[in-house]
Amino acid sequence: MKFNIAKQGGIKARLVYEDKIEGEYLTHLKEKELFSGKAEEVYYTLDSDLKARLFIGLGKEEKIDFEVLRKTFFKVSGELLKNKAGEVELNIPKLNNLCNYRIASAIAEGMLQAAYKYDTFKSERKEAPELVVNYNPIKGKEHRAEKGVNEAVKLMEAVCLARDLVNQPANVIYPETLAQTAKDKLESKGVKVSIYGKKEIEDLKMEAFLSVARASAKEPKLIVMEYYNNPESDEKIALVGKGVTYDSGGYAIKPADSMVDMFCDMGGAAAVIGAVHALAGLEAKVNVVGVVAACENMISGDGFRNGDIIGSMSGKTIEIINTDAEGRLTLADAVYYATNNLKAAKLIDLATLTGACAAALGEQVSGAVTNNDEFFAELERANQRAGELVWKMPNIDYYKKMNESKVADIKNRGGKLGGMMSAGLFVGSFLAKEDIPWIHIDIAGTAYISEAYGYLKEKATGVPVKSLYFMLSKET
Ligand code: BES
Ligand code: MG
Ligand code: ZN
Repeated sequence: MKFNIAKQGGIKARLVYEDKIEGEYLTHLKEKELFSGKAEEVYYTLDSDLKARLFIGLGKEEKIDFEVLRKTFFKVSGELLKNKAGEVELNIPKLNNLCNYRIASAIAEGMLQAAYKYDTFKSERKEAPELVVNYNPIKGKEHRAEKGVNEAVKLMEAVCLARDLVNQPANVIYPETLAQTAKDKLESKGVKVSIYGKKEIEDLKMEAFLSVARASAKEPKLIVMEYYNNPESDEKIALVGKGVTYDSGGYAIKPADSMVDMFCDMGGAAAVIGAVHALAGLEAKVNVVGVVAACENMISGDGFRNGDIIGSMSGKTIEIINTDAEGRLTLADAVYYATNNLKAAKLIDLATLTGACAAALGEQVSGAVTNNDEFFAELERANQRAGELVWKMPNIDYYKKMNESKVADIKNRGGKLGGMMSAGLFVGSFLAKEDIPWIHIDIAGTAYISEAYGYLKEKATGVPVKSLYFMLSKET
């Protein structure tokens, strides 16, 4: 898809408000119940002389927000691509007093969302039809529109990178290829990517991480991505992503049906790689470090067991109640490393961590646990801007106590109930200092979905790359 700013040509779209249906043609369409101007409604037709007409419903003006624009232009773009329309001219007026740059960003994003598809492994792949979008903002706002379109293009590149990483199966994306992809995609953007192998991970004494990795024939990799672009601040923020490239459950083996999609268990890592890609691509003024402890949770004669007591980089001992609660073990060492060795002042961890989160919130809302409401408020503003949903769960001692072990410092499974919070608080207890502002985002339900909604198709979503970008770049 190609965007031109302030250029005429192509099918001229007509934007229609639901309460302003005027003229013979539109009145006819409304009477025949073909088009009534509601938000997300699109009517595309060819007249007898093959001239295309395109009507775009916007609903009521006072209801328009960025999410309505994304959803509506997702439909527009889908219709144009399906009809191989070639070129479209959008003349975008001021909409509900929204900022012109953000309008352009939302419209372009919606259009790009429709072009994403995952067909890497189909022998007969169809070339996507090309679409040229001539975007005309109101006079004098060309630069703002250009900035918005550019933001959307770079953001969607990052979101699609995260989606591709999650969608590809575990025989393709494993620790080494995940690390290599991060390097290939990020270094050209000015990010320093360091990849540490087993020997170096052993030297760091990451025993929790290594215990999970032990049964796999694939070598674990610790991936560190550094992008420091704010010389005025010496504060570093860490993004830590769960990078379990396959989760069989280990000896607490999963039933076959629950295992099929478990190549998606590196969704947190993909979100981190995507977010760093967006921040670097858009040259955000931020000092960010991404950390991923990537490994596979497999089974072998040397695998760790339910009942084992293991160490961790922090020095804490961990009683293994369930080898399928592996994500928190890899995160424990990654979080400690980010805050102790890399001295991150704030930390967000992202993980497809618990079925309990998916059970509680479903596929459209991620769950969060935090120790700092001010920090969380920053995320909420970014969610609003991005059109992504995160719900804050309670952080009280009740859940923390669930992790107490009789024989070690902590255990890796809370109890039957409240599993999302006890898992999150397990991760938080490995911060080098307990007052480091921290948010845990559980994306077990949202990173890889079974049913499309809005502008998200089924399978990998790339959630919450957009929010992380907006939060860290302060574009909220
Ligand atoms: N990777 C899973 C969580 C998950 C479930 C992700 C569904 C995506 C979709 C995680 O490692 C896991 O197995 N968690 C267990 C923890 C339990 C054993 C305490 C779970 O949620 O059942
Ligand atoms: Mg598991
Ligand atoms: Zn897992």
